[in-house]
Amino acid sequence: MITEGIIFERAAMSDIAAVHALEQRCFPAPWRREFFESEVITPGRFNLVARREGVIIAYLFAAWIVDEMHINKIAVDAGARRQGIALALMERCTAFAVEQGVTSIWLEVRQSNEEAQQFYHVLNFEPEYIRKGYYPDGEAAVVMTRDL
Ligand SMILES: CC(C)(COP(=O)(O)OP(=O)(O)OC[C@H]1O[C@@H](n2cnc3c(N)ncnc32)[C@H](O)[C@@H]1OP(=O)(O)O)[C@@H](O)C(=O)NCCC(=O)NCCS
Repeated sequence: MITEGIIFERAAMSDIAAVHALEQRCFPAPWRREFFESEVITPGRFNLVARREGVIIAYLFAAWIVDEMHINKIAVDAGARRQGIALALMERCTAFAVEQGVTSIWLEVRQSNEEAQQFYHVLNFEPEYIRKGYYPDGEAAVVMTRDL
């Protein structure tokens, strides 16, 4: 694992400009900056950033209600992929979820995003069902879940 030297911490409002810039590079239909600003001040959220040499290279935004955790966003800068960084973000999120008494984690992933689906498969997520027309451009989402 090459996550040595990477600092993982809860996202703050001052991180949002960098998170949003990374979001725009990573997603075809990125969240607006205001979505991130709202998430970072909403209770019941677990939002993490990963920094290398002070620069944000990855983030995970999640929400939990009672016994369910939902991964809203996870992304790693293209130049920092396949180094276990997303895995490290998910491990931290899962550990936090367990502490809160969460029993299942849910997420949506584009049907065409086979790489992300493979990543989730490695983490023992199972495809649950297809949600048609979920994304703004009409693409379907695969809803995936993992019991804790
Ligand atoms: C999906 C994503 C978050 C994975 O981040 P990452 O830090 O590269 O993932 P990791 O290095 O932790 O990968 C862990 C394991 O998952 C699997 N995996 C990760 N990316 C993969 C890929 N592109 N293809 C196939 N398997 C992959 C591998 O088994 C990998 O282990 P290995 O590198 O030892 O083979 C990253 O590719 C990304 O940001 N993509 C663009 C945004 C996105 O699609 N987010 C998810 C939206 S639902």
